[in-house]
Amino acid sequence: MTVHFIGAGPGAADLITIRGRDLIASCPVCLYAGSLVPEALLSHCPDDARIVNTARMSLDEIIAEIETAHVAGHDIARLHSGDLSVWSAMGEQLRRLRALDIPYDVTPGVPSFAAAAAALNAELTLPGVVQSVILTRTSGRATAMPDTETLENFARTGATLAIHLSVHVLEKVITELTPHYGPDCPVAVVWRASWPDQRIVKATLSTLQTAIGAEMERTALILVGHALGAEDFGESRLYAEDYDRRFRPTGQNPRFPETAE
Ligand SMILES: C[S@@+](CC[C@H](N)C(=O)[O-])C[C@H]1O[C@@H](n2cnc3c(N)ncnc32)[C@H](O)[C@@H]1O
Repeated sequence: MTVHFIGAGPGAADLITIRGRDLIASCPVCLYAGSLVPEALLSHCPDDARIVNTARMSLDEIIAEIETAHVAGHDIARLHSGDLSVWSAMGEQLRRLRALDIPYDVTPGVPSFAAAAAALNAELTLPGVVQSVILTRTSGRATAMPDTETLENFARTGATLAIHLSVHVLEKVITELTPHYGPDCPVAVVWRASWPDQRIVKATLSTLQTAIGAEMERTALILVGHALGAEDFGESRLYAEDYDRRFRPTGQNPRFPETAE
């Protein structure tokens, strides 16, 4: 018996991996975090599967469900939104399972920052502009931020910021970022990326608040940085005509000469 933790993706039911879908189809039990996991994914469950929405359950109750399935020898598909490596609460479940000696594995999913970037048709790293993306959030009621992980500290790097769980404190985000990125820095807010009711607002740090208006649905990602909407950036050397590389040796003395097979 194994608990399969599966990244369910950002919302669209076809943005799950084939492996994730097949695992759902093979498990007699499915536990899903109902607040953000699309119900359409549950159509992959076997007809007689036990399907439990864990949105209102405590960690103890979730582990009790897993233990019951473990005793019965039933595999579990455990679905969380996006990818499991960020803000999924998977870590604490894995720790409990290790203590109980219950086997598990992890299948990645499409994270919401990638879905938001796709909705904008944007590459977040552009040559000569920015080469890093910081995935972060602000303090919430349930989770405080470590002292050094402030927006201000991250802003000093100039990296593209993908700010989660923070659209309700937009004013604070704008105030802390403006001194570093400048009022004209492009910013985009993407609500429910890839869901049918996806909404996008593109603006600058100085115009964002007005552009958004009063509507503040919580599931949104804030992307900030000079890569957004940039046209003045270099081309990747990888595809340059004169760039000598293993898969396309070029010049008099290629660094990776082609060997006859
Ligand atoms: C608890 S975190 C889950 C993150 C998830 N594990 C991931 O890989 O993106 C929830 C936050 O992720 C962001 N989020 C999740 N799904 C989203 C979507 N479809 N569109 C925009 N933001 C989303 C929002 O910032 C939301 O408040």
